[in-house]
Amino acid sequence: MKIFAHRGLSGFYPENTMLSFKKCINLDLYGIELDVQKTKDNHLVVIHDEKVDRTFNSTSYVKNMTLKELKSLNSSFNGYENNPECKIPTLKEVLILFKPTKFIINIELKNNKINYKNLEEDVVNLIKELKMERRVIISSFKMKSVKKIKKICPKLKTAYLISEKFYKLRIKNLIFYKMVSNKCSFANPSFVLIDKQFIKKCHGRDLEVLSYTVNNIENYQKLSNLKCDGIFTDYPNIFSTINK
Ligand code: G3P
Repeated sequence: MKIFAHRGLSGFYPENTMLSFKKCINLDLYGIELDVQKTKDNHLVVIHDEKVDRTFNSTSYVKNMTLKELKSLNSSFNGYENNPECKIPTLKEVLILFKPTKFIINIELKNNKINYKNLEEDVVNLIKELKMERRVIISSFKMKSVKKIKKICPKLKTAYLISEKFYKLRIKNLIFYKMVSNKCSFANPSFVLIDKQFIKKCHGRDLEVLSYTVNNIENYQKLSNLKCDGIFTDYPNIFSTINK
């Protein structure tokens, strides 16, 4: 199974920070996952929520702050408030960190609630500038974005994120049809959606399945038995040791 560190080693360190990513480097992993948004002054930054208040000491939206303002925030993770490696990183800083490694980086475009102008173009340009086209997977809950990425850079691999809520409300066959017609390489569903049927539908369409967020052994074992291709986990150190 491909093991991805979800937001870095986020079960132990502040998520989506250089510290949580650096802690993954010596682990036997396939890759890491991170979330990208845009600042007020148009920089690509790595943070999950649209508002900074869950993880940092402010209540503002990412889109309303400049990079300098965001960089001045301190982590609210107990014990890491003053750690200089626990600031909000730029996407470029994280990609440069992993460039000399073999890690694959799953970049989630965090644009399902806020429509960041040119997010897809800016992410693709940065990947091209760093010559990391073969090292990334771009995912989004927005099919329009997944489609756009493939249009502007066909050699990039894409993944469509599928939440439990979304899957239950939609016509299933249409989701699979769209993933194929928009040339996705991966389906990234919530682990609760995975059963024999789901895997069969994906593998029959040449889609690999990477499931989020798998944090306990029973779920890992179940997915492994079902031949799921990979998982995103907050505890990659635990799963990398039992993974075959
Ligand atoms: O990319 C996998 C997973 O992180 C997707 O869900 O809500 O954490 O962005 P979410």
